[in-house]
Amino acid sequence: MSEAIRIDGKAFADKLRARIAAQVKELKSLHGLTPGLAVVIVGDDPASHVHVRSKHKSTLEAGMKSFEHQLPAETSQKELLTLIDGLNNDPAVHGILVQLPLPKQINAQAVLAKINPDKDVDGFHVINAGRLATGMPGLVPCTPLGCLMLIEDVLGKGNLVGKHAVVIGRSNIVGKPMAQLLLHADCTVTITHLLTQHLDEECRRADILVVAAGHAHLVQGDWIKPGAVVIDVGINRIAAAEAGGKDRLVGDVDYAAAVQVAGAITPVPGGVGPMTIACLLANTVTAACALNDVEVPNV
Ligand code: GUN
Repeated sequence: MSEAIRIDGKAFADKLRARIAAQVKELKSLHGLTPGLAVVIVGDDPASHVHVRSKHKSTLEAGMKSFEHQLPAETSQKELLTLIDGLNNDPAVHGILVQLPLPKQINAQAVLAKINPDKDVDGFHVINAGRLATGMPGLVPCTPLGCLMLIEDVLGKGNLVGKHAVVIGRSNIVGKPMAQLLLHADCTVTITHLLTQHLDEECRRADILVVAAGHAHLVQGDWIKPGAVVIDVGINRIAAAEAGGKDRLVGDVDYAAAVQVAGAITPVPGGVGPMTIACLLANTVTAACALNDVEVPNV
């Protein structure tokens, strides 16, 4: 059997970002509307700062406005809620993202609940989770949205109907919304997790397998149905000592083995990762258009 198609998430995300930049240009010229994204970061977590810088750069590259709010680690919940209140009421801000994790003194649920659901470009607000679960239009979490785009691209839109999709992972950020999106695409969906009995057998039934378990190389080559589409959301850092010299990123799937069996598979890095920021920009355009009652430009 020949090797699987390597799904190039980086190339797909680059194309999507170019399309978003064209939409932003159109919104500016047709409606004088410049989508704006506000990103709030509290504290000094180095990885979070890397993510926020990258979001800022991508937002500006797409021609949008970027508003960065860097707050000290000792910020109180009240201060953060006051800032969000201001962003909710600022007409130049169409998307609000509060980088997680937050320091201990702040209740993340209370903060997410404070964001205007129509500006919630992370799609983490319970209103947006409810909209997704009930099939109403809303803002969808970026990572599962990106996964769905890659699956539709490789299978062809409309060709997900009746396929058996297995999701490993039940987080509010990836697993649960991913399962909802696949269900709306008419897949038969099984949600599994690390405590699922006979997880390997569940996986072998999957035409579409999305893995977001946070467990390096959990999925073995012989867990995969021949020809399946495999989407690996995992990003696990293997320390230099184990990886033989340099730190290395690996997914939740044993890529070298899986690529021999699957029909198509995302690599790590360069698969799902680049889609997340591209979908954040897409959500910001969606939110800006909905808030201003204009169509998303079809360019
Ligand atoms: N921290 C790690 N990933 C994310 C994300 O997608 N959104 C937010 N808000 N924080 C994160």
